[in-house]
Amino acid sequence: SKLEMFVDELPDMPRIHGYGIVDGSPKPKLLTIGMFSKKWKFHRDLPATTVFAYGASRRTATVPGPTIEALQGVDTYVKWQNHLPSKHILPWDPTIPTAIPATKKGVPTVVHLHGGLHEPASDGNSNSWFTARFEEKGPTWSRRIYHYNNNQQPGNLWYHDHAMGLTRVNLLAGLIGAYIIRHPDVEGPLKLPYGDEFDRPLVVFDRSFRVDGSLYMNSTGNNPSIHPQWQPEYFGDAIIVNGKAWPKMVVRRRKYRFRIINASNARFFRFFFSNGLEFIHVAADSAYLGKPVVSNETLVAPSEIVDVVVDFSKSKTDEAILENDAAYPYPSGDPVNESNGKVMKFIIKKEREVDTWRVPKRLIKYPSPDLSSVSQTRYIAMYEYAIDDEPTHLYLNGKPYEAPATETPKAGTSEIWNVINLTEDNHPLHIHLGLFKVLDQTELEDDKEEFKDCMLKKNDAIKCQISKYARGKKIEVAAHERGWKNVYKMTNGSVTQILVKFSYIHSNTSYSFDPTGEPGYVYHCHILDHEDNAMMRPLKVIK
Ligand code: C2O
Ligand code: CU
Repeated sequence: SKLEMFVDELPDMPRIHGYGIVDGSPKPKLLTIGMFSKKWKFHRDLPATTVFAYGASRRTATVPGPTIEALQGVDTYVKWQNHLPSKHILPWDPTIPTAIPATKKGVPTVVHLHGGLHEPASDGNSNSWFTARFEEKGPTWSRRIYHYNNNQQPGNLWYHDHAMGLTRVNLLAGLIGAYIIRHPDVEGPLKLPYGDEFDRPLVVFDRSFRVDGSLYMNSTGNNPSIHPQWQPEYFGDAIIVNGKAWPKMVVRRRKYRFRIINASNARFFRFFFSNGLEFIHVAADSAYLGKPVVSNETLVAPSEIVDVVVDFSKSKTDEAILENDAAYPYPSGDPVNESNGKVMKFIIKKEREVDTWRVPKRLIKYPSPDLSSVSQTRYIAMYEYAIDDEPTHLYLNGKPYEAPATETPKAGTSEIWNVINLTEDNHPLHIHLGLFKVLDQTELEDDKEEFKDCMLKKNDAIKCQISKYARGKKIEVAAHERGWKNVYKMTNGSVTQILVKFSYIHSNTSYSFDPTGEPGYVYHCHILDHEDNAMMRPLKVIK
């Protein structure tokens, strides 16, 4: 039996302030956030589902977890506590590089604040995992309380699990939440929609369920003799927004701001409105755009964030369905169907209203990258390995995660990375600590097979004459994606050139930041099933 769409109200997750107010001024705050196993109703007609959820307590834990609201330059400390049971609710595959507690008991977890520019010890390195009551800890575990100084531009971040080899199952189980850094003095004058009613995070992901409500994940690998369980991509049939399948939201005829986070394992969304309403982009990932950009559709890869204003006063109808038409895997997999092609419904009230919110002509402009200051140029190649066409694993630069770090930028410098995607799929590349600008995306020419063969043998883009092959069609970077990003879509069969900065793009205080030290950072594909096996590499920032 099919679940009826648009029956549950869109929830707003609990909001937790990552700062206190003492004598009228903001002060640092210590939060305690636990991970709990509990039951969660994803749909009115679906029995409750066992999930792993973040929350201040088991009772208040939600999927996604609470939205943490921080202030720029005011420290937030979080004691992340693992209260999970001894056994996972989803199958894991011990044949991929995975955190395995010595007692084989407990669910390893570690939290990464995605988009944050923080000290390495608080970055949630995959090997810094821990089980319930810190009974067992990974090799690079170093502290119970994480420190986020929030000393970066205002914008959208999200926190999620990052445990070695378990990221895909820990997120599928529900370990996801939004985190917003605000700077009222800078953002207030913009007059963008604000407050709990008009400024709403939308955390979107896909899931499949069994009739008893439990999460469904194929537990037989595509290459079971090598990896008994690992599948190259997880796709679910139900689209979940803020913890409800295909919810509905009643809105007034005015502007709303939606911070849309794609928290899917592998699904890309190309969002559009059934009645032609537009997206007015004001920010992308964790940084504002210099100017708003209007679009009719927006392609959002796993872990990308689009921050848009939607003006419902422009609607000619009383209902607008947010839809999706991105093939899965993207770009050449199956077309969407009746279920995964629909996201949520907005029901627009009839009454006209005076709208005090606006979208200014100018937003927040950050310095453009200074190409003359680039200290290094690197080539990063993406490979997929398969047996009889069935993928077995994916690597960056032909190397497993455990191979010593080869990307060792100097703190405070900028680098050019040329990312060469030699696979058939689009991979969203995410770099911890670094914010980057996409400079160019160019297809490899038709005879790229020679280049691919050479790269497979030598893994050396210069020796394989990259410049001879990277001469195909230019792929346009959408206007709203030309600002500072922390994830971007590496189109299959192309070279993407980015300029990465390993420091702040903007900071208002004189707090000095030392990103060097152990354990280091990582960069990886944000298709979680790829990241786990093993499309992730260490990133060691040095002095
Ligand atoms: Cu969103 Cu390394 O992660
Ligand atoms: Cu990938």
